[in-house]
Amino acid sequence: MSENTTTTAGDAVPAQRTATEPLMRVEGVAKHFPVKGGFPIKRTVGAVKAVDGVTFDVYPGESLGLVGESGCGKSTTGRLLTRLLEPTGGKITYRGQDITHASRKQLAPIRSEIQMIFQDPYASLNPRQTVGTIISGPMEINGINPPGGREKRVRELLEIVGLNPEHYNRFPHEFSGGQRQRIGVARALALEPKLIIADEPVSALDVSIQAQVVNLLQDLQRDLGIAFVFIAHDLAVVRHFSERVAVMYLGKVMEIADRDSLYKRPRHPYTHALLSAVPEADLDAGQRERIRLSGDVPSPINPPSGCRFRTRCWKAQDKCATEEPPLVQLSGNAEGHLTACHFPEEPTLEARDEDIVMDPALAAMEKDAH
Ligand SMILES: Nc1ncnc2c1ncn2[C@@H]1O[C@H](COP(=O)(O)OP(=O)(O)O)[C@@H](O)[C@H]1O
Ligand code: SF4
Ligand SMILES: [Mg+2]
Repeated sequence: MSENTTTTAGDAVPAQRTATEPLMRVEGVAKHFPVKGGFPIKRTVGAVKAVDGVTFDVYPGESLGLVGESGCGKSTTGRLLTRLLEPTGGKITYRGQDITHASRKQLAPIRSEIQMIFQDPYASLNPRQTVGTIISGPMEINGINPPGGREKRVRELLEIVGLNPEHYNRFPHEFSGGQRQRIGVARALALEPKLIIADEPVSALDVSIQAQVVNLLQDLQRDLGIAFVFIAHDLAVVRHFSERVAVMYLGKVMEIADRDSLYKRPRHPYTHALLSAVPEADLDAGQRERIRLSGDVPSPINPPSGCRFRTRCWKAQDKCATEEPPLVQLSGNAEGHLTACHFPEEPTLEARDEDIVMDPALAAMEKDAH
């Protein structure tokens, strides 16, 4: 990535965006799972606030990264966007239509347009079905008969995702992990979606295979104009794939920005922490400050008052316990760069690139791409 493209990209993207209506609008969306207790009659005694008021837009053809530690509510958010789950609060609009509480019937016409790719390519494919049956499944369910028939379309899809169309009759166990994820991608593409939610699609794969699958998804996004919400716990993968990134913590968005703005001028302490969390082996002692996040993510049943990050934040003050910081644009931030913090970090102007340790395979791939 060349340094001098930073400002142009940062200026150009929001301008483009204002000209386009968002594909999906997520406003204060929440998902609270009831916690049952008591005997003999079980009552609701509390709630897991897995997602607790997240707001962001997804624009046509863009890739939005959704990042945060395990348990922050990323998968739940993904399932809400595809409406595999129904929100307990807030509003989801897809192409202008309120789908927050839409019934199965109401969702039917748009089901095909929003697809999901799952983390585990082993669990998400039925081992007793052939690849052909798996990939044509969504066409069958939706009664779609493409010109030339479903089998022809499946063979095309296999080719698009880099698999041999002759392997139509094989079973998932005959494929490697990376190839199985390609089958999952082909299934997601079968209905020509406008939006794909990819929930940690490469986390379960070997590093070398990760790069290939990320490359494939990136090609699809560019060539087919599909919008992606790319969920990851790893900022390195998202940096490669997403033009915009939202950082989630304990059911909330802490910071959201264009890629360059987020990686080069992060303002939220949590983003700083994620950016400096690198494998032990890569530590260059004394070269740069490392932030170590101590402790685990607190329980979403009883999240900290005020700012949810305060129990792990080195900048926390009294106000952080009593007032929840709103997600706003701070002075000095690029347009669309929003941060939820009372005492944000100074924008870091020195080369942040140095701080981001990429998987070797991804780093090599990025070099090739530029
Ligand atoms: N069906 C459910 N019932 C109760 N709690 C849930 C359910 N699904 C997820 N959770 C809880 O919600 C929180 C967020 O989970 P999840 O969305 O899977 O996070 P992530 O994908 O970021 O790791 C976790 O504490 C998880 O245990
Ligand atoms: S609001 Fe306070 S506790 Fe939260 S991130 Fe900012 S400084 Fe830290
Ligand atoms: Mg998850």
